[in-house]
Amino acid sequence: MVIADSPVPRLGLGTWQNTEFEQCRDSVRTALEMGYRHVDTAELYDNEEPVGAGIEAADVPREEVYLATKVLHPRHVEGDPTRASIREAVDGCLSRLGVDSVDLMYVHWPVDYDLDVVHTTLAELRDEGRIDDVAVSNYTPDHVERALDVDPDVVANQVELHPLLPQAELREFCAEVGVDVVAYAPLAHGEVFDVPELQRVADDHGVSVARATLAWHLAHGVAAVPKATGEEHIRDNWAARTLDLPESDVAAIDDIDRRERFFDSDYAPDW
Ligand SMILES: NC(=O)c1ccc[n+]([C@@H]2O[C@H](COP(=O)([O-])OP(=O)(O)OC[C@H]3O[C@@H](n4cnc5c(N)ncnc54)[C@H](OP(=O)(O)O)[C@@H]3O)[C@@H](O)[C@H]2O)c1
Repeated sequence: MVIADSPVPRLGLGTWQNTEFEQCRDSVRTALEMGYRHVDTAELYDNEEPVGAGIEAADVPREEVYLATKVLHPRHVEGDPTRASIREAVDGCLSRLGVDSVDLMYVHWPVDYDLDVVHTTLAELRDEGRIDDVAVSNYTPDHVERALDVDPDVVANQVELHPLLPQAELREFCAEVGVDVVAYAPLAHGEVFDVPELQRVADDHGVSVARATLAWHLAHGVAAVPKATGEEHIRDNWAARTLDLPESDVAAIDDIDRRERFFDSDYAPDW
């Protein structure tokens, strides 16, 4: 289900593990010049500088690019986040990206932070114009409700979502409370390529498994941020926008009888 007024473009470029400076800069530049308008990074990814350099190098005006990053990954947080530490983390992102503001700032993981402090501070930064919109990531419905109590303007929840973890209940919940869903690891971190049902749909349409999978995401109205490094994968994924899967194929992918979560670290919430 599409959240009608969501500002998040449906297909973006994921950049996790794309850390070599020139390669990452070139991936971002290639994607933007091909037509992508949404780039996803994070303080954790250690690539905000090359992502910023890619945006700067691309022949696309900054204001046309939807730039999303994330703070408050548990590996970057010592003790409880405070207003000062959150502001400092956001300043660090903007400085590494080389921008005055970002379009979207996610809370990377909820952990057991004081969500009042987190969301009050991010809402202040939004009021000050350093962040256009605030989003969350890896939030359970309970976390989303707590965040919305503090800041009703949270726009999206970025979660692991792919044909092996379709998150139907979470999608339904988010639609009910007006929060958009962004799929991370939309290609199951590369595991979609060995799934016979996906191969069958891809073969029927004469496209790659990646393209068929991303078309399934788009058919469900979620945004997706596949990570792709070289031009061939970046182009293949972008072409998913023009593949309209018939309902029977969407249902066949929904019915894949496997449930696999690839991101379930010790700081993950009780899903
Ligand atoms: N919020 C969070 O906690 C969180 C967690 C994980 C990920 N994320 C975000 O989600 C993004 C995507 O997740 P992900 O990187 O884990 O996995 P993914 O996008 O599901 O899969 C990426 C893998 O698929 C390959 N690939 C991409 N397009 C392809 C194509 N058309 N044909 C064949 N192979 C293709 C990539 O190879 P190449 O790189 O060689 O192109 C890479 O090995 C991340 O980059 C990050 O931005 C967020």
